[in-house]
Amino acid sequence: MNVRDSEIILGMLKEKGYAPVSKPDQAELVLFNTCSVRQHAEERVWGQAGMIKKRGARPVIGIVGCMAQNYQEQIFRRLPQVDFVCGPANIYDIPLLIEKALKEHSQLLAVNMEKRPLLCDNGYRISNLKAFVSIMYGCNNFCSYCIVPYVRGREVSRPLRHILAEVQDLAARGFKEITLLGQNVNSYGKDLPGPLNFVRLLENLDRIKGIERIRFVTSHPKDATPELFKAMRNLASVCEHLHLPLQAGSDKILHMMNRNYTLKDYLKLVDVLRRQVPDSAISTDIIVGFPGETEKDFKKTEQAMKDIQFDEAFVFKYSPRFKTKAAEFKDDVSNKKKLQRNHRLLELQGAISLKKNKHIIGSTEEVLAEGKGSYFQGAKKKQAVLGRSRSNKVTLFPGKMDLISKLVRVRIKRTTAHTLIGEVDDKKN
Ligand code: 5AD
Ligand code: SF4
Repeated sequence: MNVRDSEIILGMLKEKGYAPVSKPDQAELVLFNTCSVRQHAEERVWGQAGMIKKRGARPVIGIVGCMAQNYQEQIFRRLPQVDFVCGPANIYDIPLLIEKALKEHSQLLAVNMEKRPLLCDNGYRISNLKAFVSIMYGCNNFCSYCIVPYVRGREVSRPLRHILAEVQDLAARGFKEITLLGQNVNSYGKDLPGPLNFVRLLENLDRIKGIERIRFVTSHPKDATPELFKAMRNLASVCEHLHLPLQAGSDKILHMMNRNYTLKDYLKLVDVLRRQVPDSAISTDIIVGFPGETEKDFKKTEQAMKDIQFDEAFVFKYSPRFKTKAAEFKDDVSNKKKLQRNHRLLELQGAISLKKNKHIIGSTEEVLAEGKGSYFQGAKKKQAVLGRSRSNKVTLFPGKMDLISKLVRVRIKRTTAHTLIGEVDDKKN
């Protein structure tokens, strides 16, 4: 979501005549588009923004995004060189904020969450092949550890006609893949009048000619339905990959996290998905070291990962976020333990990913070739075309770079935990 916001900001700046420079000290304008999900991300911004030196009135410095919403005018106290602070709902004000900052040299605050514009597209994209498309903003779930509902507000769905117009424009410009973005895409449309829901949205988008692949993040287990899985199976352009954060394998911890499902509910969902869409890949997010997580609780997460066999898992150390419910609980798992548990799960997942990828050897995958990459054959580094399979696995294969932007059938010859390596399947192209 932040990458998409940064892209929109870049588009606006380009329209104003700005161009990127390679070093911060050459810049006339420095913006930090920030994340507040974990403390570590914030610390990096405090550190890096603190190092930007003013030469008179330049550069203009702006703190944008979730940290702006979270800390508001406190930022001016900690970083007096900052000219403006702009929350995620106010990014369309950035050109005006820059103009004002240049004229007034006063510290400007734009953190009005009510202002969220729904027609949020200036057409600018970094790629000309794959595009992120926001379908909704905010979140109503209030998972006890999560700051998102406080900095991005309540759920608001974009009107269907706006999304369709944006994707039709992308298709006309030659884009092949879109990724629909929302904190909880499965609740798309619940705040709009009429029977519109996420599956109806997918059906509408699937009919747009030229868009070969539709992905979506993130799905909350409490709202993912068999109807969605059927759509994944039946709609040709919807990819067979679901990102479904589990967060923890212990029901006690899931309850304290306010996730509204049990491990049993989650396992049932995975089972239904795998029956409906046999080749589907599942990725997940896990938090280790949540308050009260004992070794026994942690082992339940470990066991759940062994049982489920995810294709990919993002593992995070719990980070208390002020304003959230969990910040009231004692952060009683030491950092050392969090780190150890993090490593244990990453190691486990590495082995599972490798084993799962090995099953793919010999099969042919449809890959959207998107750029250059390389891999090692023995000690020799080989140039390769890089792309992703429908199940979202990075795939490398030798071939001419004019394959880029094409869908190529690749026979998989070998794999690592994170990449598939193959060759163009001449029989199937
Ligand atoms: N500490 C650690 N991880 C967190 N996440 C969200 N909030 C926190 C937190 N306070 C993780 C969740 C979420 C992912 C985007 O970030 O796993 O799914
Ligand atoms: Fe945060 Fe939970 Fe909403 Fe995801 S669903 S953004 S983890 S509150």
